[in-house]
Amino acid sequence: MRFCKFLSLSIFRLISLHFITPSTLAANFNIINNCPYTLWAAAKPGGGLRLDQGQTWTINFQPAVGDTGRIWARTSCRFDGTGRGKCQTSDCGGVLECEVDGQPPNTLAEFGQNNSSNMDLIDISLIDGFNVPMEFSSTSSGCTRVIGCTADINGLCPHQLRAPGGCHNPCTVFNTSEYCCNTGNCGPTNYSRFFKDRCPDAYSYTFDDPSSSFQCPSGTNYSVVFCPPARIMKLLLVCDDEDL
Ligand SMILES: *[C@@H]1O[C@H](CO)[C@@H](O)[C@H](O)[C@H]1NC(C)=O
Ligand SMILES: *[C@@H]1O[C@H](CO)[C@@H](O)[C@H](O)[C@H]1NC(C)=O
Ligand SMILES: *[C@@H]1O[C@H](CO)[C@@H](O)[C@H](O)[C@H]1NC(C)=O
Ligand SMILES: *[C@@H]1O[C@H](CO)[C@@H](O)[C@H](O)[C@H]1NC(C)=O
Ligand SMILES: *[C@@H]1O[C@H](CO)[C@@H](O)[C@H](O)[C@H]1NC(C)=O
Repeated sequence: MRFCKFLSLSIFRLISLHFITPSTLAANFNIINNCPYTLWAAAKPGGGLRLDQGQTWTINFQPAVGDTGRIWARTSCRFDGTGRGKCQTSDCGGVLECEVDGQPPNTLAEFGQNNSSNMDLIDISLIDGFNVPMEFSSTSSGCTRVIGCTADINGLCPHQLRAPGGCHNPCTVFNTSEYCCNTGNCGPTNYSRFFKDRCPDAYSYTFDDPSSSFQCPSGTNYSVVFCPPARIMKLLLVCDDEDL
């Protein structure tokens, strides 16, 4: 599908890396469902797992297995005992354990490595649209990055982009080069601004790198929380502690 520009660039670098020296650096991801409903989390590479409210799935990304990775949530799924079925959003070919990307719309956590600087590149992308609020943060002491997209995008979604359980990206709906950026040169659009205004940390179109691409040292661990609790509450709790 549409990868962010920097991930495409880093694929090139990593392909070289694979044949030179397998990296020993790995990243652990804790994927947490804080939503008041069941989700079917998905990761590529990684597969997929049903997560009831409060449950966590831990996966390990190894650069030798996949140079880039993505994590997303599927909603309203039904699977049979053999792991075959369907989801309302972000279905990955009708299987519980994903091997291909989910169908848009979906909020994506993306991960890649910039080998030339030994840094991980992380982002949240709304280029494929939105389905579930997400926070993507580093959990190692060496990096304290928090990227969030928690706005009520589904509730505020422009009517042309509305989809069952999500908010579409304009490329899926209109299939024009302006929205799909298939000329390799495109700028923000009125629809990308709708996403950017509500989730300024997230990719809203292909060349949105300066405000949407973040770095942590390779080897950092991460957490992806669906429906994260409001950060403001945490700040208030810290203030209360200091007052005591
Ligand atoms: C990637 O990084 C490793 C370790 O720093 C280095 O040995 C290797 O040459 C780099 N590979 C590329 C393709 O830059
Ligand atoms: C990767 O790291 C190199 C060296 O620090 C830097 O010049 C380059 O801009 C980085 N690329 C991305 C996409 O972050
Ligand atoms: C990441 O998590 C693994 C497993 O818990 C741990 O061994 C490793 O030290 C962690 N890395 C960092 C940089 O904290
Ligand atoms: C989108 O448009 C392109 C050409 O403009 C066409 O080749 C492609 O099949 C269209 N895709 C869909 C899903 O309609
Ligand atoms: C974006 O522009 C198109 C074409 O001018 C218009 O039809 C559409 O309503 C606009 N959407 C938003 C969200 O402003």
